[in-house]
Amino acid sequence: KDLAIGLDLGGTKILAALISREGEILGEFECKTSTGKQSDTTANIIFAINSLLAETVADRSRIMGIGVASAGIIDSEQKIIHYAKNIGLENFPIGTILEGNFQLPVKLSNDANAAAIGEWIWGAGKGKQNVIYITVSTGVGSGIISNGQLMTGINDSAGEFGHITISHDGILCECGNRGCLEKYASGSAINMRANQLLKNGETSSLLPIIEKGLVVTNKEVATAAKQGDVFSIQLLKEAGEYLGMGVVSLIHLFNTEAVVFGGGVMNMSAFILPSIKETVAKYGIAKMVEKVEIKKSVLGNKAGVIGATGLFYLNREEQLTMN
Ligand code: BGC
Ligand code: NA
Ligand code: ZN
Repeated sequence: KDLAIGLDLGGTKILAALISREGEILGEFECKTSTGKQSDTTANIIFAINSLLAETVADRSRIMGIGVASAGIIDSEQKIIHYAKNIGLENFPIGTILEGNFQLPVKLSNDANAAAIGEWIWGAGKGKQNVIYITVSTGVGSGIISNGQLMTGINDSAGEFGHITISHDGILCECGNRGCLEKYASGSAINMRANQLLKNGETSSLLPIIEKGLVVTNKEVATAAKQGDVFSIQLLKEAGEYLGMGVVSLIHLFNTEAVVFGGGVMNMSAFILPSIKETVAKYGIAKMVEKVEIKKSVLGNKAGVIGATGLFYLNREEQLTMN
């Protein structure tokens, strides 16, 4: 068998794709994430995979299984999504649902962990034994490859980088804690801050949008930044500083070789990555950070869906068995 289906469950979309052993996308189908009932999400997932299967010509007997990448806290053994606030899921038995509907083996991983595997096998982390992938999207997450192994922890929840505390008594997070990194540097946080600051009367080319009573989108922030809007540039720079401080801790903890950034917010990497790099250089222990490569993902917003199929190429110790 040389093909696998990847399923990426994210805060804004559900993406199903047929992936080759070489990590190529042979077909894909996307639909919106319904934040309503879990039964709607179930229906959407089944619809997405059925649509994918209908449009692909490949012989079904070539498909190894379905690899699922989901945001949130999961149990890869039971194949349950414990909770994923950004998708509106709680105690969601994704394994049972997929195995029952498609009679294929199912593997489940956290979205950022899956993307880390994808970048490790086929992307920016290829050949490296110590690489950390960070996604900056609706939330912030990470997947840590250390000494040639994916760090899973006891519950497959290692790498919840978005929920490290960076501010005592800070903004309340969906996870129940205060001051989590993702409340300062995720796509939704950047958006919230943009609108809040503009309402408080910051000078910016985006101000007319607010004055019309509309909400500024991140796309508009990105465009404004490109056109030289100082407010937008500063906002993205600050997000980079928050991320950079978190990355310093990761590098100190894991003595890593490369840090790879993906997720939708990296569309604005021109304004965020330099700030991350500066912050790391400024706060990190020189001997530990000076040689670390900090770069953009190669698989882009497909890292999760591609990486989910990489789960079929790891052994029980979460090491790569492919080569
Ligand atoms: C979730 C993580 C996820 C990240 C990116 C966070 O809010 O807690 O599990 O990896 O968002 O989707
Ligand atoms: Na993770
Ligand atoms: Zn949190």
